[in-house]
Amino acid sequence: MDSKRRVALITGASSGLGAEFARQLAARGFELILVARRRELLEKLTASLPVRARVMVADLSDRVARAEVRRCIEEEPDLELLVNNAGFGTRRRFWEADLAGQQAMHEVHVMATVELTHAALAGMVPRGRGGVINVASVASFARSASNVSYCATKGWMKDFTEGLVVELSAMGTPVRVQALCPGFTYTEFHDVLGVDRTKVAASWLWLQAAEVVRESLEGLAGGKAIVVPGWHYRLFTALFPRLPFGVRVWLQKRSPHTRDRL
Ligand SMILES: NC(=O)c1ccc[n+]([C@@H]2O[C@H](COP(=O)([O-])OP(=O)(O)OC[C@H]3O[C@@H](n4cnc5c(N)ncnc54)[C@H](OP(=O)(O)O)[C@@H]3O)[C@@H](O)[C@H]2O)c1
Repeated sequence: MDSKRRVALITGASSGLGAEFARQLAARGFELILVARRRELLEKLTASLPVRARVMVADLSDRVARAEVRRCIEEEPDLELLVNNAGFGTRRRFWEADLAGQQAMHEVHVMATVELTHAALAGMVPRGRGGVINVASVASFARSASNVSYCATKGWMKDFTEGLVVELSAMGTPVRVQALCPGFTYTEFHDVLGVDRTKVAASWLWLQAAEVVRESLEGLAGGKAIVVPGWHYRLFTALFPRLPFGVRVWLQKRSPHTRDRL
């Protein structure tokens, strides 16, 4: 076996941030396992990459499909990076939105992250190398109407990552975990959601996927546990959670983002 092999498994690799992770990790010499539901897009991406890349079609809201991805992680002795990136948003107030969609979001954001991270760390920690990036969101620092499950599940991803940081650093292992918390980023996310980007936020607030991924990978190399790309989002996440809850509710009630998505 080639001892220099470094393998990364990326969920939600068929578009947006996941596809960008694939391109930037390929440029760093990683062999890739790309997971999502749309086979055609995954195959097109693998064909364009200068490294060996394998496609795994899986719907991560499905327990059986997640078990297959978990098995793939357990059987990969050179897995060096897991990127839990698959995700999506929904619209409408929590009780008015389709329950199946809310459940699927919890399965993809929470259960897939639990199960795949468990499998990955069980191999990485004994090997003494590797890392996990959990793609959360700036939404993990806030709560907004029509976005209740999204903020809650992304908040969980950040809290979960922070817990792992404590456990891993207490052990003194070099294995690293990171919660990547992007703000509005140009990907397919808002197309899937069916919202007009120009109504969601001013253009200066939007990030490019390439810069988000670059900051995440550089942050991981530097041992940064929480990465918030963009100075404006760093300012927001530093200040907003410090406000009293009543003030946060008052501010979020008035946000155009909240109004337009209801
Ligand atoms: N764009 C933003 O403004 C923004 C901001 C903060 C955080 N994020 C987070 O960034 C992550 C990536 O999203 P993106 O912005 O790159 O959006 P995107 O372009 O829509 O990509 C989402 C990816 O998730 C995959 N996915 C969705 N549901 C899935 C399922 N049930 N099973 C397997 N894969 C699934 C999609 O692939 P298939 O459809 O092929 O399955 C796709 O590859 C998400 O977790 C999102 O919450 C995005």
